[in-house]
Amino acid sequence: MPAHIRKTVVASLCLALCADLAQAAVYTDAKHLPSASYDFVIVGAGTAGNVLASRLTEEGKYSVLVIEAGVTNEGVRNVEVPFLAPQNLPNSSVTWNYTTVPQTFLNDRYIGYTRGRLLGGSSSINFLGWTRGSNEEYDRWANLTGDEGWAWNNLAPYYFKTSHLAPSADHHDPEGQANLTNFGNGPLAVSLPGFPTELDPLVINTTHTNPEFPFALDVNAGDSIGIGYIQSTIGNGARCSSAIGYLSPALGRQNLDVLIHNTVTRLISTGPDQGKPTFKTVEFSTGPTATRHTVSAKREVILSAGSVGTPQILMLSGIGSKTSLSKVGIKSTVDLPDVGQNLHDHPILSNYWTVTSNETYDDIIRNATNFNRTLAQWQQTRTGLFTNSPLNTLGFLRIPGNDSIWKNFTDPSAGPESGHFEFLFGNGYNPAPVPATGNYLTIGTAIVSPHSVGQITLASNDPFAFPLIDPAFFSSPFDQLAMLYAIKAARRFAETAPWDGFVIERFGPVGTAETDEEIMAAARGAARSIYHPTSTARMSPLNATWGVTDPQLRVKHVSGLRIVDASTFPSIPAVHPQAAVYTLAERAADLIKAAWA
Ligand SMILES: Cc1cc2nc3c(=O)[nH]c(=O)nc-3n(C[C@H](O)[C@H](O)[C@H](O)COP(=O)(O)OP(=O)(O)OC[C@H]3O[C@@H](n4cnc5c(N)ncnc54)[C@H](O)[C@@H]3O)c2cc1C
Ligand SMILES: *[C@@H]1O[C@H](CO)[C@@H](O)[C@H](O)[C@H]1NC(C)=O
Ligand SMILES: *[C@@H]1O[C@H](CO)[C@@H](O)[C@H](O)[C@H]1NC(C)=O
Ligand SMILES: *[C@@H]1O[C@H](CO)[C@@H](O)[C@H](O)[C@H]1NC(C)=O
Ligand SMILES: *[C@@H]1O[C@H](CO)[C@@H](O)[C@H](O)[C@H]1NC(C)=O
Ligand SMILES: *[C@@H]1O[C@H](CO)[C@@H](O)[C@H](O)[C@H]1NC(C)=O
Ligand SMILES: *[C@@H]1O[C@H](CO)[C@@H](O)[C@H](O)[C@H]1NC(C)=O
Ligand SMILES: *[C@@H]1O[C@H](CO)[C@@H](O)[C@H](O)[C@H]1NC(C)=O
Ligand SMILES: *[C@@H]1O[C@H](CO)[C@@H](O)[C@H](O)[C@H]1NC(C)=O
Ligand SMILES: *[C@@H]1O[C@H](CO)[C@@H](O)[C@H](O)[C@H]1NC(C)=O
Ligand SMILES: *[C@@H]1O[C@H](CO)[C@@H](O)[C@H](O)[C@H]1NC(C)=O
Ligand SMILES: *[C@@H]1O[C@H](CO)[C@@H](O)[C@H](O)[C@H]1NC(C)=O
Repeated sequence: MPAHIRKTVVASLCLALCADLAQAAVYTDAKHLPSASYDFVIVGAGTAGNVLASRLTEEGKYSVLVIEAGVTNEGVRNVEVPFLAPQNLPNSSVTWNYTTVPQTFLNDRYIGYTRGRLLGGSSSINFLGWTRGSNEEYDRWANLTGDEGWAWNNLAPYYFKTSHLAPSADHHDPEGQANLTNFGNGPLAVSLPGFPTELDPLVINTTHTNPEFPFALDVNAGDSIGIGYIQSTIGNGARCSSAIGYLSPALGRQNLDVLIHNTVTRLISTGPDQGKPTFKTVEFSTGPTATRHTVSAKREVILSAGSVGTPQILMLSGIGSKTSLSKVGIKSTVDLPDVGQNLHDHPILSNYWTVTSNETYDDIIRNATNFNRTLAQWQQTRTGLFTNSPLNTLGFLRIPGNDSIWKNFTDPSAGPESGHFEFLFGNGYNPAPVPATGNYLTIGTAIVSPHSVGQITLASNDPFAFPLIDPAFFSSPFDQLAMLYAIKAARRFAETAPWDGFVIERFGPVGTAETDEEIMAAARGAARSIYHPTSTARMSPLNATWGVTDPQLRVKHVSGLRIVDASTFPSIPAVHPQAAVYTLAERAADLIKAAWA
C-alpha cells in the first residue's frame, strides 16, 4: 500500500476509535446492545430523561438504557453556540419538524412546533433562558396534586441540585444582576450574559424611571415579577444542555447504555400485575420500514419523550381515550381520556422599532464578513456576542387588578408574584430573516398565563406519522386581550425616556397598527409558539378520575410505567419551563429510588 494511502487509513482508523472511546456507551445499532433487559428503560434522552439517566446510575445499583430517536449533540455548531440557537428553527437536522393544525384564531395559519431531536432534547436547541417560576407556581402544583412534595419549599433542594452560578464569558461581577444567594451546586452551568449590549442599560434605566415596569434583581428567587438580566444555561461561553451537564459525565458508567437513532414505536402490554396491565416491553426501530426491536425493563419504563412524544407513545400503546383511539384503529387497553388533553403553551409575537444605532446585531447576522468574524472570535476565545443567548434582559409583568379585562375573566395566574405577560428584549430583528437593511429593536411579548387549552391527538396508528398538535392559540378571548395589553405596554416602555434618540419608529404590521381592533388583527397574523408545550399527561391526586399520572408520576391504572417530563406539569408555569423540568426530574429520581429501595 503506498505510504500516503496507508497514512489515511491509519488516520481514519484512529478517528473511528477515538470517537468510539469518547462515546463508549452510545450505540446506534440495536444489534450491538449488550443486553435485552435493564432495570430501567428511559424513553427520550431529553431534558428530563438525561437527569434520570445520570441519577439512576450514580450509585451503581441499577442498569439503565436510554432510547433516543435523534442524533448526537456533539459537533453541531448551532447547538453549541448560544447566540445561534434560533438558526436551528424551524427545521434542521436536530429537530422534530412539527407544525400545528391550522389555528382557527390565528387566521388558520400552521404554526411551527419544533422540538429537539438529539441528545439533550429541547434543552439542546432552546434559547437557554433559565427561569424558575414563582413560589406560587409550585404551591399551586401541590394544591392541584394533593402532594406537598411539589410545593416551593419542598422542591427547593431539588432546584438547587440542578445547577450552579458559572462565570459569564466576560467574567464580569454578577453582583447587582442576580441574587447570589439563590444558586445551588448542581451540574448545569447557569450564567449572566457574557457580552454586554447597548440595550441593557436602556432597559434597566427604564425600570428605574417608570414605576409601571419594576426592576427585578432575580426572578428566580420566589417573586417572578419585574424586569432584569436573564440567566442562561451557558458555561464557558457554550450551551450547557442536559446532554452536557448530566449525560456526558455519566457515559463512562458500566451500568448506563444509550441508544440513539431509534424511535420508540409503542410499549407492549405484558399481562397483568396485581390486576393492572404492565407495559415493561419497549418496541423501537430506526424507521417506518426497518426491523422492530424490543427491550424490557425489570423494574420500570420511564417515558421522557416530552409534551408531544409522551402522549403520542401512550396513545400508540393503547393508553388514552377509548373513543378517540378507536377512530385510528387502536384498541384501548387503559381508558385514560386525559392523555393528550390540557395542552398549554405561551403565544408570542415580535414588536419592532427602527433605531438610530448601527451596533445592533442585524449587521452581524446578515453580513457574512461580520458573521464569520464573530464566529471565529467565539471559536478561538469563547468571547463576544455569540456567547450570549438571543436576549440579555427580560421581564414578567401583570395586568393591574383594576383593568376592565377582569370584569369578564378570572385570573389564570398562580398569584400576585406570577406574570400574565412577558417582555423579551432583542438588540436587533428577531426572529430571522433579518430585513436586508435597517437596524432594529425587538420586544417580544408573550402571554405566560394563558386561558386557552389545546390538545394532541393521533393522526394515524403509524408511529412515524406526526400527531395532530392543536395548541388552540387565542381560542380564549382573554389571551387576545392580554396580548393587546402587552403590546400597548411594550409601546409605553420603549416610547418614553431613556429611549429618546435611540428609537426612531414602530415597524412592521403589528407596529403600524393603531386602533385596538387593528392591533388585535395584526396579532392574529403574527402570533406564534414560544415552544413551551406542557401538561399533555398531567399529574392529579392519587385517586382523581382525571389526569394521567399520580403525584409520584406513575401512570394511573397501569403497573411499571412512569412519566417524567414537561407533559406531567399540573399547570403551565408563567415562565420558560426548562428549570421546572430539571427540578421535577431531580425529585422524580428520588421518588423512583425510594420506590425501589
Ligand atoms: C426552540 C425552543 C426554545 C425554547 N426556549 C426555552 C428557553 O429559553 N428557556 C426555557 O426554559 N425553555 C425553553 N424551551 C422549552 C424547554 O426547552 C422545554 O420545555 C424542555 O426542554 C422540555 O423538556 P422535556 O424533557 O419535557 O422534553 P425534551 O427535552 O424535548 O425531550 C424529549 C426527548 O424525547 C425524544 N423522543 C420523543 N419521542 C421519542 C420516541 N418516540 N422515541 C425516542 N425518543 C423520543 C426527543 O427526541 C427528545 O430528545 C424552548 C423550547 C424550544 C423547542
Ligand atoms: C427536519 O427538516 C430538516 C431540514 O429540512 C431535515 O434535514 C431533517 O431530516 C428533518 N427531520 C426529520 C426528523 O424529518
Ligand atoms: C418544516 O417541516 C415541516 C414538515 O416536513 C413542513 O410542513 C414545513 O413546511 C417545514 N417548514 C419550513 C419553513 O420549511
Ligand atoms: C386547593 O386550594 C383550594 C382553594 O384554596 C382548596 O379548596 C383545596 O382544598 C386545595 N386542595 C388541596 C388538595 O390542597
Ligand atoms: C435573595 O433571595 C433570598 C431567597 O432565596 C431572599 O431571602 C433574599 O431576600 C434575596 N435577596 C435580595 C437582595 O433580594
Ligand atoms: C442609565 O442611567 C445611568 C445613571 O443615571 C446613566 O449614567 C446612563 O447614562 C444611563 N444609560 C442609558 C443608556 O440611558
Ligand atoms: C456607526 O455610527 C458612528 C457614528 O454614529 C460611526 O462613527 C461608525 O463608523 C458607524 N459604524 C459602522 C459600523 O457603520
Ligand atoms: C459587511 O461588513 C463589512 C465590514 O465588516 C463591510 O466592509 C461590507 O461592506 C459589508 N457588506 C455588506 C454587503 O454590507
Ligand atoms: C463565511 O464563512 C463561510 C463558511 O466558512 C464561507 O463559506 C463564506 O465564504 C465566508 N464568507 C465571507 C464573506 O467571509
Ligand atoms: C388603575 O389604577 C391605576 C393606579 O391607581 C390608575 O393609574 C389607572 O388609571 C387605573 N386603571 C383603570 C383602568 O382604572
Ligand atoms: C366583557 O363581555 C361583555 C359581554 O360579552 C362585552 O360587551 C365587553 O366588551 C367585555 N369587556 C371586556 C373588557 O372584554
Ligand atoms: C385512594 O384509594 C385507595 C384505595 O381505594 C385508598 O386506600 C386510599 O386511601 C385513597 N387515597 C386517597 C388520598 O384518597
